[in-house]
Amino acid sequence: MRQPLHGLGYNTAMTSTAAPPSTSPALAVDLAGLCLANPMMTASGTCGYGYEYAELMDLSRLGAFVTKSVTREARKGNEAYRIVETRGGMLNAIGLANVGLEVFLAEKLPQLRKLRAAGPKIIVNVAGHSVDDYVSSCARIASEPDVDAIELNVSCPNVKDGLTFGTDPALLRTVVAQVRGAMDAKVKLIVKLSPNVADITLTARAAVEGGANILSMINTYTAMAVDIHKRRPRLANNTGGLSGPAIRPLAVHLVHRVYRAVARDAGVPIIGMGGIQYWQDAVEFLLAGASGLAVGTALFVDPATPIKVAQGLEQYLAKQGCKSIREVIGTLKLHGE
Ligand SMILES: Cc1cc2nc3c(=O)[nH]c(=O)nc-3n(C[C@H](O)[C@H](O)[C@H](O)COP(=O)(O)O)c2cc1C
Repeated sequence: MRQPLHGLGYNTAMTSTAAPPSTSPALAVDLAGLCLANPMMTASGTCGYGYEYAELMDLSRLGAFVTKSVTREARKGNEAYRIVETRGGMLNAIGLANVGLEVFLAEKLPQLRKLRAAGPKIIVNVAGHSVDDYVSSCARIASEPDVDAIELNVSCPNVKDGLTFGTDPALLRTVVAQVRGAMDAKVKLIVKLSPNVADITLTARAAVEGGANILSMINTYTAMAVDIHKRRPRLANNTGGLSGPAIRPLAVHLVHRVYRAVARDAGVPIIGMGGIQYWQDAVEFLLAGASGLAVGTALFVDPATPIKVAQGLEQYLAKQGCKSIREVIGTLKLHGE
């Protein structure tokens, strides 16, 4: 990254780079039965299948590892440019490039099993282009030992009618219900919400009604960057997904809305993401109602971000006099309350 993404104003002194102590029990979270040593995880698509980052960060210190989206067939993805940097964030249009289900199971999952033995839970992100795609991939992956949860990337168009799964509540409810029904009951189902909707509480409710055990939010915002000299979009795909600090306040707001309107009463935990770079960002998400936290774009600036955030959270909890992270989740009080 040519420019730091963090902007101005944060004192990061509490995020020491010294070798951290082992994770404090205060950070342990239980996401609908998915028990993590700490809330920190990788955001899908930003950390490959894990081993690519093994020399850059201590993956065993994560609460969970989330894979790149896996599709039934291998995909080459979009033409270059697929990534461009913007002020305070980045745009990507990777086009779901991935090795496909069979190669994932044969070559990538065994590596992840080794990682799981060291502590982190394994979450496999799955994408598809038809209900049948999702159902068959998820049923197969969930039958493998050592897969703790599946995260559904529903920000993909359905080949049948062109509707994006994650923006149409009825379609979302259908795909979630069918996937949940086809999966081994002990594997948790996480549904990853798209922010590209008028009212995210409608899709959140549809996912919960379909049987989602956990919600994760948010995926990227559809956006465009323009090469003013060529008078063309900078991405070959014309549009892409905006991520990074630029979307953080938007993501915090959506987590707050979904927590209050749907998730809290339904008892469905939320994994919050969107621009988390420092522990202070993570605390905003926790207060708004997230129980788990994922880091994506910030990994490209500093792969150790999730570990540093966990250290900062530990110190924050101690300063607040909290024995457990559960004491802060969803405790945001609005003015007037
Ligand atoms: C380069 C890149 C690739 C991504 N690929 C995927 C993907 O394959 N599946 C998915 O569900 N989300 C994908 N995402 C979205 C992230 O998982 C995350 O939801 C989003 O980037 C917001 O978090 P962040 O601001 O911390 O990056 C990708 C994001 C980036 C930046």
